[in-house]
Amino acid sequence: MIEIVPENPAQHAEAIEALFDATFGPGHFAKTAERLRENSVSLPQINRVALEAGKVVGVCRVWPLVVGPSRSPALFYGPVAVDPAYRGNFLSLKITQAALEAGKAAGWPAAILIGAHSLFGKAGFTVVPKGRLTFPGPQDPSRIMVMDLAGDASQLEGLVTAP
Ligand SMILES: CC(C)(COP(=O)(O)OP(=O)(O)OC[C@H]1O[C@@H](n2cnc3c(N)ncnc32)[C@H](O)[C@@H]1OP(=O)(O)O)[C@@H](O)C(=O)NCCC(=O)NCCS
Repeated sequence: MIEIVPENPAQHAEAIEALFDATFGPGHFAKTAERLRENSVSLPQINRVALEAGKVVGVCRVWPLVVGPSRSPALFYGPVAVDPAYRGNFLSLKITQAALEAGKAAGWPAAILIGAHSLFGKAGFTVVPKGRLTFPGPQDPSRIMVMDLAGDASQLEGLVTAP
């Protein structure tokens, strides 16, 4: 049986890093999204991990960011990863949805995610109009998505940066 729980860094962080290394490979840290994450600090109480018998088999981490000149707060969702042996049941969506509910319950206004709309659209993310959100590095606009949490994600506009 798989349970989805908040991240407990002392118990899960090492296994999460190992899962990222295994799923994304060494090129991962070159991505624009990583530039944002390295200047932010993820929120273990909102991050969600999937456990089977205590073993980490999936994860969604979230990171506070600010958007535009008004520095509107938003939560950046990702990386999302599932152990290859546990793929095929939309576990990534269940983990992401749990982290979205936690972000909303904590009062965060909006979520941002860079990924495949064919997958994360099923969690409620929509692709932003081209040019509305920009990043400190190249980013395929068809992969930039937002979603309302406790506020209105359509208000987000401008450069996305670390707080
Ligand atoms: C992406 C990932 C988390 C999905 O795992 P999962 O929840 O078990 O997904 P499933 O295998 O059940 O697939 C669910 C659907 O998503 C699709 N999908 C899976 N990975 C995808 C990807 N990287 N891009 C687009 N679609 C994807 C599948 O084709 C399937 O769609 P279908 O039912 O129409 O065929 C997993 O493949 C993974 O860890 N990949 C490596 C890391 C990664 O690419 N993360 C996403 C970016 S943050």
